[in-house]
Amino acid sequence: MSLYFLSPGPSACPLEYHPASKHALPSRSSRIRCALNNDEKQSPSSSSPITVDRRDMLLGLGGLYGATTGMNARADPIMPPDLNKAGACNIAVESNFPDKSDFLKCCPPYQGDETLVPTDYTFPKTPLRVRRPIQEVVNDSEYMEKFKTAIQKMKALPETDPCNFIQQSKIHCAYCNEAYPQNGDVNAPISVHASWIFLPWHRYYLHFFERILGSLIGDDTFALPYWNFDNPDGMTISTIYTDPNSPLYDAYRNTSHYPPKIVDYKYNYVDRELTDDALIAENLAYMRKTFKEGEPLPELFMGDPLRANENPSLTSPGQLEVIHNSIHQWVGERDVPHRDMGTFVTAARDCIFYGVHANVDRLWSFYRARRGNRVEFNDRDWLDATFVFYDEERKVVKVKISDSLNTSKMCYTYAESTAPWLGAVPKKKTKAKTPGSIVQVNEFGSERKELDKPIQVLVKRPKKSRSKSEKEDEGEVLYISDIIVADGRKARFDVYINAPAAPGRAAADYGEFVGSYVKLPETSQAAKASKDKKRLLKVGISSALEEGEFEDAESIVVSIVPRFGSVSIGSVFIKLIKTDVNSV
Ligand code: C2O
Repeated sequence: MSLYFLSPGPSACPLEYHPASKHALPSRSSRIRCALNNDEKQSPSSSSPITVDRRDMLLGLGGLYGATTGMNARADPIMPPDLNKAGACNIAVESNFPDKSDFLKCCPPYQGDETLVPTDYTFPKTPLRVRRPIQEVVNDSEYMEKFKTAIQKMKALPETDPCNFIQQSKIHCAYCNEAYPQNGDVNAPISVHASWIFLPWHRYYLHFFERILGSLIGDDTFALPYWNFDNPDGMTISTIYTDPNSPLYDAYRNTSHYPPKIVDYKYNYVDRELTDDALIAENLAYMRKTFKEGEPLPELFMGDPLRANENPSLTSPGQLEVIHNSIHQWVGERDVPHRDMGTFVTAARDCIFYGVHANVDRLWSFYRARRGNRVEFNDRDWLDATFVFYDEERKVVKVKISDSLNTSKMCYTYAESTAPWLGAVPKKKTKAKTPGSIVQVNEFGSERKELDKPIQVLVKRPKKSRSKSEKEDEGEVLYISDIIVADGRKARFDVYINAPAAPGRAAADYGEFVGSYVKLPETSQAAKASKDKKRLLKVGISSALEEGEFEDAESIVVSIVPRFGSVSIGSVFIKLIKTDVNSV
């Protein structure tokens, strides 16, 4: 794997490499000053020669643009809400939190202050913060004391203080709860989920949260720990969160998932009857597939493009986000209203949120490193997308996605760790092809279909038996489009592909798992708003075709298996999408 993780340039601070083993992430010593002028070649700024402006493309000058990103000539990057204007944040208080409807009142306290103008964020010059896995910090009592003290102090601040714990959680709540209509358009609220904004927005969110914690204990080396849920050693909820006397504790969780329960990336609101080993193996295989399909096609890993004034429900989430959705559901309350982790408006009220997201962020870093830090979307609408946060001095600051791509500029990194899923090749299924177990399947047709039971359809592939270089050039992607979640709330379905057992016939066995659609439950207000929205899911199927050895099939059988929620879908088809492998 590539080790350009932080790519120190000649003038950068003397970062020290720990040559990583094959499956390891590089790490750094924590006592290094971060320089602002680190090499930024992996993080293009507006003037960077490797980025191509959308307008150049329109003039026919650009070559790189649009390789993997649907281009929309009328769009612009997502911009932060105009918070100094009254009404910029707009939260309806109707909710299904009967006891605490103020959960939804998450507009920032400074809303409507005309004197307030967010300033551009200046990146800190502090020692490099090193985020470590929770299974390691749990035994570091000095660190744990600091962490708990910092959280306790944050919780003790007055609730109107932007650095207060609940205020911080409200930043997430507002950014995900349809609170910020873009240009007054309620159909296009700013949302930080289910698109290419997901990973960078949450990276910044953690950055500021971590800096605030550090400043509360006067320690500029303080780093958040990460819940290493992609490692068999870290697949349970850590005991650092389960002690009712700890400030890291939260009462609104599914306590039947406390240790030693293994997290389930395909959680169903029902615990599946699997041995721990089987569950671990499934998790690892799912993570591996997510990387394998996503590496050449960033939209499958990061999520689809989302531009100004576009409706965020129309984009497909990346599969890393989908796994993360399941973790939210697995940790939060099992029943309605699914506090805290179980629904986005309250999720950041649980300290475990920051552990989950540190790992999600680490997996993104790992992904970047594996791609040689190639920019995921060479697209100004991504790079220039801008958000607002509070810094630790309570100033409202603006940040851009392009500045989040270099974590050394943000002065943090991840301790060396393994990626055990890299080698997790799923066991070959033995296919049931006895005549009694096969059923006739047809093409999807033009009618939309209720997913009240599993459906199996025959889907024609654009091309069969593709050569190695054709596959390198284009990935094969399954689209499930016009998904409607009838009540706008929670839903899940899993997708499998298989070769026909006989012409036009499917076997009882669904075949290879290729990905899922997972929607978190929403509050009634947000659910109402999202009720008839047609959503999209894209999953890569190249590796499943190879591993299932049905690369030569002209059509494949797609099985869509509903798990919860009332869902219907509009169509199922396969497209070849250009990878960015050769776009350097
Ligand atoms: Cu904004 Cu884990 O969610």
